[in-house]
Amino acid sequence: MLVIVKENYDAMSKEAARLVADRLRKKPNMVLGLATGSTPLGLYKELIRMQRDEGLDFSKVTTFNLDEYVGLPPSHDQSYHYFMHENLFKEINLDVRHIHVPQGMSKDVDVFCEWYEKRIVECGGIDLQVLGIGGNGHIAFNEPGSSLGSRTRIKTLTGTTRMDNARFFKTGEEVPRYAITMGVGTIMDAKELLLLANKTGKADAVKAAVEGPLTAMCPASIIQMHAKAFVFVDRDAASKLTGNYNDSWESKIFQ
Ligand code: PGA
Repeated sequence: MLVIVKENYDAMSKEAARLVADRLRKKPNMVLGLATGSTPLGLYKELIRMQRDEGLDFSKVTTFNLDEYVGLPPSHDQSYHYFMHENLFKEINLDVRHIHVPQGMSKDVDVFCEWYEKRIVECGGIDLQVLGIGGNGHIAFNEPGSSLGSRTRIKTLTGTTRMDNARFFKTGEEVPRYAITMGVGTIMDAKELLLLANKTGKADAVKAAVEGPLTAMCPASIIQMHAKAFVFVDRDAASKLTGNYNDSWESKIFQ
């Protein structure tokens, strides 16, 4: 694992974008795993700027998103389809045929999940997977207690996650109860992981993921088992870490 601590959110996002851009320049047809949430927004903004100012080319990239709410159509402003379109896809030169986001309106969710897993393999596997982390240690919608070997499937959202998300919906009742999510095992198959976290609210989860015991009660702790996991944090999210960490992913000193 390579932990990179930056002064603030902006510096963290830019450093992470430099890593994505480096991988993309080395492999123009890379398979990029994407995440939603507030954390990766700075990374996406910087990638959009790099396309505009530096000609970073996404035309051959294939993307796979981690998760989507069950029951929200892509046109719903809280769906992850909508989020990705608004915050990244519409701004860069991705080929829409290369975009994959789980279908929350699937008639048969199990068949869809099996297809999603197969599709990732058909596309050559995910080269680099972007991840956020929940305050409770979840990655994607793999909530505490999720099997560390799990694959893409439907999950019930915990009360905490529904409460965290309630601010985006008019009433608490409207917050979806289920999501389709890549499993922890699916995420671990990616060749590289890029986990981002900022703000003090994430400090306990980051501590548990990076320095705590490996446990399904903190699904993000599985990154300790990945040979190439980058963890980008700002000073606040890093405030409970006790190890000596790096300033740049280019140091290449994996622990
Ligand atoms: P956030 O969500 O980026 O909005 O904090 C991260 C997550 O819950 O995985």
